[in-house]
Amino acid sequence: MAGATGFAGQELIRLLARHPKVTIAAATGSQATSTPRSLPALKRIWDGTVVPLDPAALAGKADAVFLALPEAASAELAPVLLGSGLRVIDLSGAFRLRDEASRARWYPATKALPGGIAYGLTEFEFDTIRTARLLSNPGCYPTASLLGLLPLQRAGLLLSGAEIVIDAKSGISGAGKAPSDRTHFSENHGSVAAYNPFGHRHTPELEQALGRTVTFVPHLVPLDRGLLASLYARLVPGTTAAAVTAAFEREYATAPFVRLTGDALPEIKHVAHTNFCDLGWKVDEATGRVFVVSVIDNLVKGAAGQAIQNFNVMFGFDQKAGLL
Ligand SMILES: NC(=O)c1ccc[n+]([C@@H]2O[C@H](COP(=O)([O-])OP(=O)(O)OC[C@H]3O[C@@H](n4cnc5c(N)ncnc54)[C@H](OP(=O)(O)O)[C@@H]3O)[C@@H](O)[C@H]2O)c1
Repeated sequence: MAGATGFAGQELIRLLARHPKVTIAAATGSQATSTPRSLPALKRIWDGTVVPLDPAALAGKADAVFLALPEAASAELAPVLLGSGLRVIDLSGAFRLRDEASRARWYPATKALPGGIAYGLTEFEFDTIRTARLLSNPGCYPTASLLGLLPLQRAGLLLSGAEIVIDAKSGISGAGKAPSDRTHFSENHGSVAAYNPFGHRHTPELEQALGRTVTFVPHLVPLDRGLLASLYARLVPGTTAAAVTAAFEREYATAPFVRLTGDALPEIKHVAHTNFCDLGWKVDEATGRVFVVSVIDNLVKGAAGQAIQNFNVMFGFDQKAGLL
């Protein structure tokens, strides 16, 4: 796996080290010339050494490669690894957008999409994931939001043309390990801040999946991990609360990592350090409004955990292997 020293990368190693079907053949940091290092937080879980990145060495050693890298590095590395016959699971946004113009705006390093690609929202893309050569793992905000909205959309319960508002809060690890003014402890602790309204690169990813525009406003909250999305939408007139419940129950009847809490609204602490997405909702039948709360751990279901769930599907293992 590449990017082993990052937040998502360390979470991947923590989970993969206990996966019954996996041997970690190599874990790499960023620089081709950097000194090999161990990961103190993972001692006795994984006692390997992080080595400098060498794509040729990865190709010789493994069946699959997880990329937990900045998107420009993924855009460069993934085609090389695919060319060596490896299956690639990419956690970055480099390969998420199908529309060329949109990709040029949000992920300019990705000049073209390789063949055999699948978008890895596991619960909805199972069949394309099974045969994928390149798995593009969804963003953390889209994962939480789409798991809460797609069942209603697919059941035909969302009023077309009406606004959908996604108000989402994420812990700071969502921004990666490099500190910035916004993610500095002294700035973030004791505060809550909205950022990038209408301008976050997860907006086109959400709109691609839903086929309609959304108002998406992310917020940073002083937590190290966890993400809560509050989803507001209008229902087709006459939709009952029972119909909304039935749509969620039908969609997730066999999904091991989606837990439905109904009108007991879930919280981040219920899912921290797990691959679960918990979904709760309330319907106001009189005004035709639905409110859904979706919570995930951004580093697990929002990144490393979902990547492993997708890897399990790609290789024909139990979806839950290494995760539950
Ligand atoms: N954090 C989240 O909650 C989350 C959720 C979903 C998706 N993602 C995506 O997952 C990817 C990793 O995120 P992260 O939060 O783990 O980032 P991070 O903490 O900043 O870690 C980045 C990793 O990539 C390595 N790296 C940096 N520049 C590189 C380069 N040019 N070539 C090769 N390796 C390089 C770093 O190695 P060094 O330590 O040697 O610098 C480090 O191992 C990103 O694309 C991110 O968008 C993250």
